[in-house]
Amino acid sequence: MPRIWVEEITKGLYVLRVDDDRVKSFEAIWDLPEGATYNAYLLKTDGKTILFDGWKRSYEAEFIETLKGLTRIEDIDYIILHHTEPDHSGTLPKVLELNGYRAKVFGHPVAGRLVNGFYGIGDKMDFHAIADGEELKLGSRTLKFLHTPWLHWPDTICTYMVEDGILFTGDAFGGFSMPDKLFDDGELDEYLHYVKKYIVNVVGHYKEHISKSIDKLSGMNIEIRMIAPLHGLIWKNDTHKIIEYYRDIAEGKAKKGKVLIVYSSMYGFVEGAIDHIIAKLPKDSVKVFKFTDMEQDSISDALAEVPDSELIILGASTYEAGAFPMMEFFARQLAHKANYKKSVLMISSYGWGGAAARVIKNILSETNFEIRDTVEYRGRADEPILHEIDKSLDKLS
Ligand SMILES: Cc1cc2nc3c(=O)[nH]c(=O)nc-3n(C[C@H](O)[C@H](O)[C@H](O)COP(=O)(O)O)c2cc1C
Ligand SMILES: [Fe+2]
Ligand SMILES: [Fe+2]
Repeated sequence: MPRIWVEEITKGLYVLRVDDDRVKSFEAIWDLPEGATYNAYLLKTDGKTILFDGWKRSYEAEFIETLKGLTRIEDIDYIILHHTEPDHSGTLPKVLELNGYRAKVFGHPVAGRLVNGFYGIGDKMDFHAIADGEELKLGSRTLKFLHTPWLHWPDTICTYMVEDGILFTGDAFGGFSMPDKLFDDGELDEYLHYVKKYIVNVVGHYKEHISKSIDKLSGMNIEIRMIAPLHGLIWKNDTHKIIEYYRDIAEGKAKKGKVLIVYSSMYGFVEGAIDHIIAKLPKDSVKVFKFTDMEQDSISDALAEVPDSELIILGASTYEAGAFPMMEFFARQLAHKANYKKSVLMISSYGWGGAAARVIKNILSETNFEIRDTVEYRGRADEPILHEIDKSLDKLS
C-alpha cells in the first residue's frame, strides 16, 4: 500500500496526497529514487463540492477510496484541471464515470482536447474552457482562474482562492521526493534540492515561462498566503521562498565558485585529466558525475546541478567517431532542458582521431552555453596537457 495523506488544510479544503515510491523513471526517463507525490485537493463549501485534479492512473483504486472518505463521488459539482498530464488526470475517467458525468469540468481551452485525446471522454464530459481571469463564485468563496501556459504544458492554469489567499499552481512550485510532512515546516534544504531537480528535469525546457508567470502573479498584487502545488510540499509559512527559489533556478542564479564536472572514461584517460582538475579545486565547491566501468551516475541528478553552477567541465571520450553516448545525451539535455548562460571547459581524449569535442561543441553551438576552452589529446593527459588544463582553469575560475 502506498502512503496516503488526507488532511483538512483550511476550512473545507482537503489535500489528498499519494507517495509514489514505485516510479523508477519519471515520464519514463528521469530516475528518481527519491520518489514523487501527486497532490489533489477537494473543496467543500457553500453546498458545493469541487475537486482539483487527481492522481496517476496506477493509483486509481486508492484515489477513489480516499475520495469516498471525504465525499460521495456523485456529489462532485466541479472538477478543475490545472494541468492534464496523466500524473494528475489519470484518475479523471473513473471519477467522471462514478460521478455520472454530472460535474462541470473546468480547464484551459487546450485541456479539453487533451483529456479527450487521452481518454476519449469528450462527448460525455461537460467541459468548460475557462478564460484568463474568469471567476467562479461559490457563495463565501471565489475561485479566480489564471492562464499560466507552459508550466509545464500549454494547458496549465492556476486557481486563486480569493478569500483564503490560496494559490493552486499545478506543476509549478512543486518538487520531487516524498517529504515526511505536508507543509514547508522545519528543515527544507533537502527538499529544495529535489525541487531544483524537478524544475530542470520536468519544466526545464520551458523555464522562461516560470519567470513570466511569476511576473504575471506579482503584477496582480494578490496576497498569496498558501501555495498548493500538484507535487511535493504545500507552502504556507513562507510562500515567497518557493517563488523566489523557482525564479532563481529558472534564471540560473549561480553559487559563487560552484563547478559541475560530468565526464565519461572507459579506460581512465579522460579521468586522469579530471582527477587532476578535481585536486586543484576547493573540495566543497565541486559536484562530479561520471560514466565509467565502475560507476554510472544519474543524468537527472547531474542536470539538477546546472542552474546554480558557475563553470561546467565536460570530459568526453571519443567513441566510434563520435562522443561517448552518455556524454552526447547529457549535452543534448543541456541544450534542451538546462540551457543556461554558463562557461564550459571541454576536455576530450581520443585514440586515432578526435571527434567527441567536435560533436559536443556542435550540440552546444546554438545554446546559451559558452565553450571557453577545449583541451583535446591523444590517450593520456601528459604533463604538457595538464599544464594546458591548468592555464585554462586559471583563466576560468
Ligand atoms: C569502444 C571504443 C570506441 C572508440 N572509438 C574511437 C574512435 O572512434 N576514434 C578515436 O579516435 N578513438 C576511439 N576510441 C579510443 C578512445 O577514444 C581513447 O582510448 C581515449 O583515450 C579513451 O579515453 P577514456 O579511457 O577516458 O574513455 C575508442 C575506444 C573504445 C573503447
Ligand atoms: Fe507536468
Ligand atoms: Fe505533474
